[in-house]
Amino acid sequence: MTPGNGQHPVLLAVTGASGSLYSLKFMEIMRDIGQDVHLVVSRTGEKVARFEIGDRGLDTLKEMADTVYQEDDLAAPPASGSTRWRAMVILPCTMGTLAAVAHGMSQNLIHRAADCFLKERRTLVMAPREAPFNRTHLKNMLMAQEAGAVIYPAMPSFYHRPRDLDEMAFFLAGRIAESLGFDVKDLRRWGGI
Ligand SMILES: Cc1cc2nc3c(=O)[nH]c(=O)nc-3n(C[C@H](O)[C@H](O)[C@H](O)COP(=O)(O)O)c2cc1C
Repeated sequence: MTPGNGQHPVLLAVTGASGSLYSLKFMEIMRDIGQDVHLVVSRTGEKVARFEIGDRGLDTLKEMADTVYQEDDLAAPPASGSTRWRAMVILPCTMGTLAAVAHGMSQNLIHRAADCFLKERRTLVMAPREAPFNRTHLKNMLMAQEAGAVIYPAMPSFYHRPRDLDEMAFFLAGRIAESLGFDVKDLRRWGGI
């Protein structure tokens, strides 16, 4: 585990939607900044990450975290509103986790932690990924947003002209980090045409 500098940590939740490279890039950005990160990966999140970024990618993600929680550990610190955090980011976020958060169904540590962030009026960023969205997905996004979450869709962009997947994922992860108030060096900024 990498020791951080002791400030309020960011809670990073990785669920089983496609896009685990985003979470790895986000973690790298946080470590580069020197920000503490606590991590929880859902059971399916582990499976999808192993498939998309490989065992090595998933191991690296966990090694870079200051603390790793188990999805079913509802007695862990993020399950209580009394613990202090900088922000929570669910990246990527499945439609299942989105639905659980939107409807206050605290069935695992990720749902419960998100519920606490909303009730404590703390910053919760959710990066949903699915295509196409059905009506339920869209309604759940609106419901979560109205409850206080920031919906930051895991949609890649092209206007910064990424040369590879790493650059594509870095840009989205970096933009999410900047939405939390961090300065991300090497983030390509639009300079006009
Ligand atoms: C390879 C793979 C890719 C998946 N991609 C998505 C996705 O992009 N979005 C989504 O909502 N669910 C996706 N799923 C389904 C979720 O993983 C599944 O609904 C799971 O129960 C969600 O649980 P979690 O939210 O606790 O991770 C995917 C599953 C697999 C195996």
